[in-house]
Amino acid sequence: MRELIITADPKELAVKAADLFAGVAQESIRQRGRFTAALSGGNTPRIVNQEISARLADQLDWSRIFIFFGDERPVPPDHPESNYRMARESLLEKVPIPSENVHRIPSEKDPQEAAKEYEADLRAVFPAPMDFPVFDLIFLGMGEDGHTASLFPNSPALQEEERWVVKNRVERLETDRITLTLPVINRARNVIFLVAGASKAPALKQVLEGPPDPARYPSQSVLPRGRLVWLVDHAAASLLIGK
Ligand code: 6PG
Repeated sequence: MRELIITADPKELAVKAADLFAGVAQESIRQRGRFTAALSGGNTPRIVNQEISARLADQLDWSRIFIFFGDERPVPPDHPESNYRMARESLLEKVPIPSENVHRIPSEKDPQEAAKEYEADLRAVFPAPMDFPVFDLIFLGMGEDGHTASLFPNSPALQEEERWVVKNRVERLETDRITLTLPVINRARNVIFLVAGASKAPALKQVLEGPPDPARYPSQSVLPRGRLVWLVDHAAASLLIGK
């Protein structure tokens, strides 16, 4: 089931995202004793992280919350481009989450090795035997080219059907990224896209209303068994029919 929620602006998007985060966290902890969530990199997810830390630091049992990452750049954790550093600054150092509950992608290592180690970490956290982990929540951003996580148009990772985490060559950026794969994303109980700004409007229209072309618009391939929420602001939704 796909839900489209359109907010007036990025701030309202962040408030709504924090409310959704809190709801899924409380339900997951109530039902299974813990809440597993994968964060996204990017500027829109950053403002969501800030809203979560501002509103929920004292509202949730952070000892039962386990944080992961949807993808990472091939840089050390203190690098300005690090998704982990962004999450640490905007959320993790502002809430009482035990450090052992934060599962960072070891992106200071060779991307192939980092992917292998992160997958091993996930296998240690998510009970076997299972073909794929089931995250309670995965936050995703979307790029102007329709990429999500580090699943870029026409990149090799789009074809991955078995591994949980892979190194993905991104020719346009002339870099290797580390990313969760589509089978993992599509097993999540809740997937929430966070998309703001007029620059995203053309890609969002193609992803939501255009013909199926997942190689060109990888976000089209995010069709989780669980709940899918497209949380977008008015500017990003400006080209959608009947918005
Ligand atoms: C990354 C993210 C990427 C991001 C989108 C949207 O590592 O950059 O995983 O998928 O979420 O590019 O980013 P913005 O919200 O900054 O446009």
